[in-house]
Parts: sequence; structure tokens; C-alpha cells
Amino acid sequence: MNELFDQLEFVENPLYERIIDDLLEQQFSVIDSFFSNDEVMALRASLLQKYEEDKFKKAAIGSKFEEQIVRSIRGDFVLWMDEKNTNTAEQLFFNKINSLVTYLNKTCFLGILTKEFHYALYPKGTFYKRHLDTFQNDDRRKLSFVCYLNDEHWKNENGGELAIYKEKNGVEQEISLYPLPGRVVIFESQVLEHEVKPVLASERMSITGWLKTR
Ligand code: OGA
Ligand code: MN
Repeated sequence: MNELFDQLEFVENPLYERIIDDLLEQQFSVIDSFFSNDEVMALRASLLQKYEEDKFKKAAIGSKFEEQIVRSIRGDFVLWMDEKNTNTAEQLFFNKINSLVTYLNKTCFLGILTKEFHYALYPKGTFYKRHLDTFQNDDRRKLSFVCYLNDEHWKNENGGELAIYKEKNGVEQEISLYPLPGRVVIFESQVLEHEVKPVLASERMSITGWLKTR
């Protein structure tokens, strides 16, 4: 009887199970249409509205000198999201994230306690050089999450691929992923180095975030 009750309480989610399998196997997972066309459209409209209201900042700005160094590393503009102050599209976004986090915590003992997300816009000509998503003084980032908000006319020639570097049998592989609308990429923040290749045309739009421990 108890067993039956347990089974009823926990409903296995095939999509989340696939993500977990991918992460265990290759430290990253690619999910096409994690978000529907309508959701992507609403989130893109929200991003563009805030961008046009001049709310975005150059990623990690410091002094003029530091700024030049930063520009040679990354050229995106970002706006941190606030889960306590969301519009309808953002609420939907966080509902999906929270559902995934609850599932991961239940099944994987990952212990994700906090999260942080920002919108990002890469103007033409910008990039983010190869890096790891953890900082020397902060190892709480467990999983990195990127979701692409480009429109359905995004072309591969626009560039802006996410390149993931991975070692296999002592040989480095480069996995190249196009920033297609609705696509989500999740990867282990402390393990996989990655890079955003130069955007050659148009603007590259996304939401990037981290699921964190402690
Ligand atoms: C980042 C990052 C990847 C992407 O913001 O740290 O690596 O595809 N983004 O936008
Ligand atoms: Mn990164």
C-alpha cells in the first residue's frame, strides 16, 4: 500500500530524465523547443522592450582600462532578472525553471538552493571568449542554463554559435551549437569550457542563468 502511494506521488518526467541522463553521460544537454514559439516570442519582446528602455549594461564593467580588457573577452549586454518582479512571460519562464529544479533536487540530490538569470544581447561583432562559468572565489554555480530567444529567421551564417569544449579519450572535441529559438543548453558549470563565437549578422538574444548550491 505504501509502495503504491510512493509511486503515485512521484511522476517521472521523460524530458527531465533525458536531461539528467545527458548530464551524467556527457556533462551537457541540448533540448530543442524547451520553450514554445509563443513563449520565445513573449520573452524576446520582453528582452527587446527592456533593451530599448536602455536597461541593459555592458557585462562586467570596471574602470576604462578594465573595460577594454573586458571588451576583448566578452561584448554582450546583460540585464539581471528579478523573480519577485516579473511580467507574464518571465513568470512562465521561472515556473518552468522551478519545476526543473524541484525535479533535479528530488531525483539527483544536487542541492540547488539559489539561481540567477540574466537577459543577454550580443550586438553584431561581439563574442565571449573561451571560459569556465565559475569564479575563483565562488564555486556555487553547478549548472549553467542558456535559452535562445532569436527569431525563427535566425540563420547559421549569423554566427554566434555556442562552442563547448570536451575531452574524449585524450582528444579535445569542439561541439558547436547554433542559438536556435526555443533551444536550451544545460551544462556543468565547473567542468565544461565554452565560448560564444563572433556574431556576424543581426543581434543574438538569450537568457543565461545558473543553478547554484549553498
Ligand atoms: C555565458 C555564456 C553562452 C551562450 O553567458 O557565460 O557562456 O551561448 N553564454 O550565450
Ligand atoms: Mn559561460
